[in-house]
Amino acid sequence: MSEKLIVVLGATGNQGGSVVTTFLEDAAWKVRGITRNKASAKAQSLEARGVHVVEADMSRPTDLKAAFDGASAIFAVSDFMGIYFDPALQTTPGKDRNECAAEQEARQLKNVIDQAAKTPTLERFVLSSLSNVAKWSKGKYTHVYHFDGKANAEAYGRDQYPELWSKTSIFQGGLYLDIYKTQKDRPSKTADGKVQFLCLWNSDMKIPWLAAAEDTGPFVQALVHSDPGTSLLAYREWATMPEVVAIFARITGLQCTVKVLPTEEWAAAFPPDLAVEMVEFFKYWDEFGFEAQDDPPVVHPNKLQTVVQSRGIAEWIGKQDWPTILET
Ligand SMILES: NC(=O)c1ccc[n+]([C@@H]2O[C@H](COP(=O)([O-])OP(=O)(O)OC[C@H]3O[C@@H](n4cnc5c(N)ncnc54)[C@H](OP(=O)(O)O)[C@@H]3O)[C@@H](O)[C@H]2O)c1
Repeated sequence: MSEKLIVVLGATGNQGGSVVTTFLEDAAWKVRGITRNKASAKAQSLEARGVHVVEADMSRPTDLKAAFDGASAIFAVSDFMGIYFDPALQTTPGKDRNECAAEQEARQLKNVIDQAAKTPTLERFVLSSLSNVAKWSKGKYTHVYHFDGKANAEAYGRDQYPELWSKTSIFQGGLYLDIYKTQKDRPSKTADGKVQFLCLWNSDMKIPWLAAAEDTGPFVQALVHSDPGTSLLAYREWATMPEVVAIFARITGLQCTVKVLPTEEWAAAFPPDLAVEMVEFFKYWDEFGFEAQDDPPVVHPNKLQTVVQSRGIAEWIGKQDWPTILET
């Protein structure tokens, strides 16, 4: 069998990095990783592992032609928060920064879609997207820009490029378990030696949890090997936050507490536009579901055509260096 080529956007990040790792292990595939900076330590480390690293910026359509040349498959992911916090983001008077960031995110993904549609060798396109909050909440929540920018680009691809869409599947990542390691509200030790977790949302709400840096690759591989037209909600396990904390307590043997923070308390730590966005975001999960429960095409991992070995939340918790995480 001749080798196929997968082009991975976001190759230096969580989702794309996982896709790179999975496809490097498959001798039938060559991997091309896209970065804006080939000289970065992450890009150099990809090169050392055998990835063909190519510089391209999704904001510059002309970069993407060479980046996609010869691709059998493309995995595309965008970075909403990177755009939002980029001092170079062009804002429009009368619009909040997060609305402008979503417009820029959608423009980047449309550039990717336009070029993917012009790539004659392409057999499968996998787009990392999220549910359309304005649509599925029936206009109730219209400020969840980090979801809707992606969903708008997805709708553009479906409408403009039926042929490309006949080769396309969607990857919707669940909430990253990594928030327990990296966010400023990660668990911490209290004076009485317990581990305190902060909960910003309704603690009864079930959430689809994903270890993005490990799980994205196997799920995307399954989407590449399955029929197109799948919109996958990708996660390890569905659990409330107190259920995750109970698993944590069992695995680590540490005593834990969950403090549910009042909205006004945590929202004050965000810029005002992001505070509105995050408040609506958590309400949307609670009322309509993280994945939009009314969205008929959404497929859950156990219904994938190609089986992905399930790894639970406990497996992920068990291999993290909690003493260091909790002390820093
Ligand atoms: N946090 C969650 O729970 C969660 C859940 C589901 C989905 N998501 C979504 O996941 C996305 C982030 O994915 P991630 O965690 O994999 O990101 P990440 O680890 O922060 O990495 C971002 C990647 O995007 C690349 N990139 C950024 N701007 C680019 C541009 N203009 N052109 C080309 N490449 C660019 C970066 O490459 P270089 O820096 O090397 O150029 C990097 O590889 C966000 O849009 C977020 O909304 C997050």
